[in-house]
Amino acid sequence: MVNLKVNLSGLELDNPIIPASGTFGYGYEFAEFYDINCLGTFSFKGTTREPRFGNPTPRIAECPAGMINSVGLQNPGVEKVISEELKKLKPCFNKKVIANVGGFSLDEYSETCAMLDKEEQVGLLEVNISCPNVHNGGMSFGTDPKMAAEVTRRVKEVTTKPVYIKLSPNVTDIVAIAKACEDAGADGISMINTLLGMRIDLRTKKPVIANKMGGFSGSAILPVALRMVYQVYENVNIPIIGMGGITTVSDVIEMMLAGATAVQVGAANLVNPFACKEIIEKLPEEMAKYGINNLSDIIGGAH
Ligand code: SIN
Repeated sequence: MVNLKVNLSGLELDNPIIPASGTFGYGYEFAEFYDINCLGTFSFKGTTREPRFGNPTPRIAECPAGMINSVGLQNPGVEKVISEELKKLKPCFNKKVIANVGGFSLDEYSETCAMLDKEEQVGLLEVNISCPNVHNGGMSFGTDPKMAAEVTRRVKEVTTKPVYIKLSPNVTDIVAIAKACEDAGADGISMINTLLGMRIDLRTKKPVIANKMGGFSGSAILPVALRMVYQVYENVNIPIIGMGGITTVSDVIEMMLAGATAVQVGAANLVNPFACKEIIEKLPEEMAKYGINNLSDIIGGAH
């Protein structure tokens, strides 16, 4: 009998598979397709203090082995997430959930996190300082170690649950940002968010995406994500949730060997809503193939 359990700063997961924020709504939408209690947990759609309509359309561009999105943190705002979305989730999910939080100021990050920290079903806060699709917020906090540390400190002051900071790959030195977050008290790191990209429509000769650029995700970015997780693992002592291009069960093993304690699956959910369920079902056979009995034993095994 293989053991799939992993532990994120005290939050024990039955398995390491977590649908990534923005690709799984608030969970209950996917409960129409399958029993989502098979998941380790999931990270809900990036939530901000105020409701946000998001960016103008088109917001999506297809690419070989991936896609670009520029959603712009569309969400109903934290009050409605608590009063409506989490209420709808409760009957279909009996595990703790990851609350993904976006923001445009230090006060906003702190207020939104403080509110979600009080929610019983929230097991961990994932603070997104890496959204490439909004101005004066998101990624602007995640590309400077001092700002990343300041967000971390402010959120830690008002929360009791584990705080993971979600990092951007659109930086010269992701290790410096990860270390700044760790020094400021982060309990863990989530990485990587999307790579800033664009496509141009040959007929109009203009960018496909209304906001011109967006975040590139999908299987094409897996090698970049693996490299960055590997580098950060060598330099920090807090757990990493690895993501970026995870599509198959072997990608999961690879990401854990690089140093991830758990793994988020993003764009793959948009292609196949059963992607996470299928990966979880295949994990025992894949582990047996490589002689792995205890999945958590392989974390960082490539170092
Ligand atoms: C978005 O809503 O624009 C995507 C969120 C993100 O990439 O952080």
